[in-house]
Amino acid sequence: MQGKEINKSRPVSGVPSFASSLPEHPEKSRMANSDTYLRQPWRTVHGIPMVSAFALNWERVDTFQTRPEDIVVVTYPKSGTTWVSEIVDMVLKGGDPEKCKQEDIVNRVPMMECAAPGKLPAGTEQLEAMPSPRIIKTHIPAHILPKSFWENCCKMIYVGRNAKDVAVSYYHFDLMNKFHPHPGTWAQYLEEFMAGRVAYGSWYDHVKGYWERRKDHPILYLFYEDLKEDLRREVAKVAQFLGQKLSDAALDTITQHTSFEAMRDNPATNYTKIPSDIMDHSVSPFMRKGTTGDWKNHFTVAQNERFDQDYAQKMSGTDLRFRTQL
Ligand code: PPS
Repeated sequence: MQGKEINKSRPVSGVPSFASSLPEHPEKSRMANSDTYLRQPWRTVHGIPMVSAFALNWERVDTFQTRPEDIVVVTYPKSGTTWVSEIVDMVLKGGDPEKCKQEDIVNRVPMMECAAPGKLPAGTEQLEAMPSPRIIKTHIPAHILPKSFWENCCKMIYVGRNAKDVAVSYYHFDLMNKFHPHPGTWAQYLEEFMAGRVAYGSWYDHVKGYWERRKDHPILYLFYEDLKEDLRREVAKVAQFLGQKLSDAALDTITQHTSFEAMRDNPATNYTKIPSDIMDHSVSPFMRKGTTGDWKNHFTVAQNERFDQDYAQKMSGTDLRFRTQL
């Protein structure tokens, strides 16, 4: 009985988890360095730039079968995905940090499109082996999200973050994450970002796509800046959306457990278990700054003016508003 319980709390029992599939031995790590997945240019799926390793056999994503009780954390990259994933898992586990610490976030909340055959377990396979209710992470834009998500009316939590801080965070992520092409200089990268020539395409289309879909689908649309402003308030929103009644003490615990400092220092959430030949935290840690307004340390005045002009054009006609400072 106890064995069964343990298996239940290990969502990917029966399929390789990240920990069991990643190279542990230095020799294996060196071999992985010559891997064809590293620093490869983007591929394209349905017209959207995609991480090369993920784009192979995209049919497995298109045909992915959801369950009505699935909970989806969907974001444009670097918008607070890990943060809200941890909040959702804590809410489902009644605010018990010990339960969440038992397994790495990449196994508790698998990223559906993630794959690198022979190197990482496919997110689709991890998810197929998980008991319900599953928490699914994805960055896929609304217009190419597998049909099954809409058909089954899965609850989605979307997290948006202002474009300037996303661009800065994404730039640092591309520097440290070798599954992505090297981003070049900040100036070069900013042009790519504005043109949508980065993984998952245009930030502008992404945030607007889910903003529109929320009108006819159960989507809780959160903002990174709101989480920074009042984390407890946003945690309560998530719990309410998921129909979970939590005590004040549980809300307090979740709020403490998901602070930036707590998640940065928690090996189950800070991505330090991913081998350094894929993510090199010495270049830039995954849990980098966790602030709003860091863009001011990177954008030049000229870059900011050009960005604002372009932003106004691309975001005209929507009532979706972001805060770039608190
Ligand atoms: S990913 O790779 O797309 O899944 O990345 P994602 O988790 O969406 O975003 C990473 C950024 O979120 C910050 N982060 C946090 N900020 C505040 N509080 C908490 N708890 C938290 N957890 C993660 C993380 O530091 C990245 O932002 P930057 O600006 O780079 O620091």
